[in-house]
Amino acid sequence: MTLRALSPLDRLLVDAQNALSTLAGKPLARRANPAADTADVELDPAERRHAAGLMRINHVGEVCAQGLYYGQAAVARDPQTREHLLEAAQEETDHLAWCGERLQELDSRPSLFNPLWYAGSYALGALAGLRGDGWNLGFVVETEHQVEAHLEEHLQTLPEADLRSRKILKVMKADEARHADHAEQAGARILPQPIPKMMAAASDLMKAVAYRI
Ligand SMILES: [Fe+2]
Ligand SMILES: [Fe+2]
Repeated sequence: MTLRALSPLDRLLVDAQNALSTLAGKPLARRANPAADTADVELDPAERRHAAGLMRINHVGEVCAQGLYYGQAAVARDPQTREHLLEAAQEETDHLAWCGERLQELDSRPSLFNPLWYAGSYALGALAGLRGDGWNLGFVVETEHQVEAHLEEHLQTLPEADLRSRKILKVMKADEARHADHAEQAGARILPQPIPKMMAAASDLMKAVAYRI
């Protein structure tokens, strides 16, 4: 998608539409669900609860990714940076759809706080973006590295039998690593401390809450 020719009002409408489809709609994945051909092995109730908690965290992570990327794109100065952000956001939409599908299969639901996570992330993304495109891209790199690390942690702690969640998380992890690489190549700045530490603390809070609610 290109926003080069869109007016500020058009952009606002695109943002509003994305917020709605992230929070209330059925996000449309462009790629097939990586778990489509993987057996859905029966989990015992405790395993299923744990898997659902982890997938709810990942779903919230993707809601945040939508907010961050759209917030950043809204204020990006260079059209190329904006396109880069929105391209990555499309892959995050795939992740969002796949995590939502898996949550349903696990008889669970997304976080009740998703509107708050989205709004907070959008504001944070716009704030980062206002500091300039180098910062904007640096923020992408840091976020994606942190997400990649927590996906690895989830791959270690998911129930052994939950092959479907595992398949989804593996593809997501590879995508997030690529998003970070692309942002680095596009001229990301390295964010100074304490910003990465504060981002990690915010994400720890999100994970603790989203595991349950
Ligand atoms: Fe993602
Ligand atoms: Fe990503």
